[in-house]
Amino acid sequence: PGALLADKLGRPLHDLRISITDRCNFRCTYCMPKEVFDAHYEFLRHADLLRFEEIERLARVFVGLGVRKLRITGGEPLLRKGVEDLVAMLAAIRTPDGEPVELTMTTNASILARKAEALARAGLHRVTVSLDAIDDAVFRRMNDMDFPVQTVLEGIAAAQAAGLHPVKVNMVVQRGVNDDQILPMIEHFRGSGVVLRFIEFMDVGNTNGWRMDQVLPSAELLARIAQRHPLHALDPTVLGETAERWLLDDGSLEIGAISSVTQAFCHDCNRARLSMEGKLYLCLFASHGHDLRALLRGDAQQGIQQASDADLQAALAQVWSRRDDRYSELRGFDGAGLLQAVRKPEMFAIGG
Ligand code: GTP
Ligand code: 5AD
Ligand code: SF4
Ligand code: SF4
Repeated sequence: PGALLADKLGRPLHDLRISITDRCNFRCTYCMPKEVFDAHYEFLRHADLLRFEEIERLARVFVGLGVRKLRITGGEPLLRKGVEDLVAMLAAIRTPDGEPVELTMTTNASILARKAEALARAGLHRVTVSLDAIDDAVFRRMNDMDFPVQTVLEGIAAAQAAGLHPVKVNMVVQRGVNDDQILPMIEHFRGSGVVLRFIEFMDVGNTNGWRMDQVLPSAELLARIAQRHPLHALDPTVLGETAERWLLDDGSLEIGAISSVTQAFCHDCNRARLSMEGKLYLCLFASHGHDLRALLRGDAQQGIQQASDADLQAALAQVWSRRDDRYSELRGFDGAGLLQAVRKPEMFAIGG
C-alpha cells in the first residue's frame, strides 16, 4: 500500500528529514541571529526531544509507507550525543522488499573531521555540508562565531576520505552579503569531487528579516557563472529533486541551483519533516506540525492512548493523504510574504 500513498496533489511520500536537535554552535545571521538566540534563549530540554528509539520507530513506520530517503539534520546534528548510534539504528531499517534506504545528513561540518570515520562505519551513506563562503573573513562573519573556514574544509576532506560520497556543499546566497563568493567557491571546489549547490535565500522562520532584494535569482546566478565558465545542463536524476544540475564544460565540477523562491518545486515535493520534539511538518512553511510524540508516548491530558505501529501507520497515512501544502508556489515571484503574519517553523527546528 505504501507505493500508492499520495497527497491531495498526487505527490508521493519519499523523503523524511529528521531534525534531532535545536542547538547549533553557529549563529548564522539568517538562521539563528544572536539577538534572538542568546544566553537567555531556552532550548528544548532533553526529555522533550524524541529518543533515538522513538525516532527509529517512526522512521521504520515511514519507510513502510514509502519513504526511501532519510536525512538527519538540526540545528547541528553532530552536537547530539551518540549520533553515531542513531545512524546505526536508521541504517538497519529495511523496506518491505528488504532493501536499505538512502541515509544522509546535513551538517555545518564544524566537528565532522572528528566524526566522519565513525559515521561512515555506522552506515551513513553521504553528507551535505552547509558552507556560505570560502573567504575566511566572510565565513567568520556569516557564522557569527568567528569560526574558521579551514576546520570546515578539513571536515569535508575527512568525509571524502571516509567514503561519504558524493559530498555536497550547500551555499545560501544572499545578495550583497556573500554573492562575491560564488566564483571563488567554484574555483576552490573544481576538481575536488564535491557537488556545489547554490540556494536562493528563503523567507523561512520568523527572525531572518528576509527581503526579496536579498535573493539572487538562479537565472542571474547562472548567467554570472556562465560568463566565466561554460556550462551544460544535466538531466534530473530523481523525481522531486530540489536542484537543477549543471556541469562545467571541462567536467571539473557539478553545480546545482536550488531555486526555491523564483522557480518553486512544490509540484513534486515529496518531503516530510520531523522536528526534534516529534512534530511532523508537511511543508517547510507549515504553520503547525502534527504531534507524533503524543501518539508515541500517549498523553492522558489530551486523552491520547499510546499508539501501536499499525495505529501510527494509519495516522501518518491519513495525515499525508490530506496534505495540500505548496507555499513556495503560492508565495508568488514578487515574494509578497503570504504567511508573513503567521508563525512559521524555524529552519533549525525542521532542518531545511
Ligand atoms: P540531496 O540532493 O539528496 O542532497 O537532497 P536535498 O536537496 O533534499 O537536501 P538538502 O538538505 O541538500 O536541501 C538543500 C536545500 O534545499 C535545503 O537546505 C533547503 O534550503 C532547500 N530545500 C530542500 N527541500 C526543500 C523543500 O521541500 N522546499 C523548499 N522550499 N526548499 C527546500
Ligand atoms: N534560505 C535558504 N536556505 C537556508 N538554510 C538555512 N536557512 C536558509 C534560508 N533562509 C540552509 C542551510 C543549510 C540547510 C539545512 O538550509 O544553510 O544548508
Ligand atoms: Fe546552524 Fe545551519 Fe542554522 Fe547556521 S544555518 S545557524 S549552521 S543550523
Ligand atoms: Fe515542499 Fe513546502 Fe517547499 Fe513547496 S514550499 S517545496 S510544498 S516544503
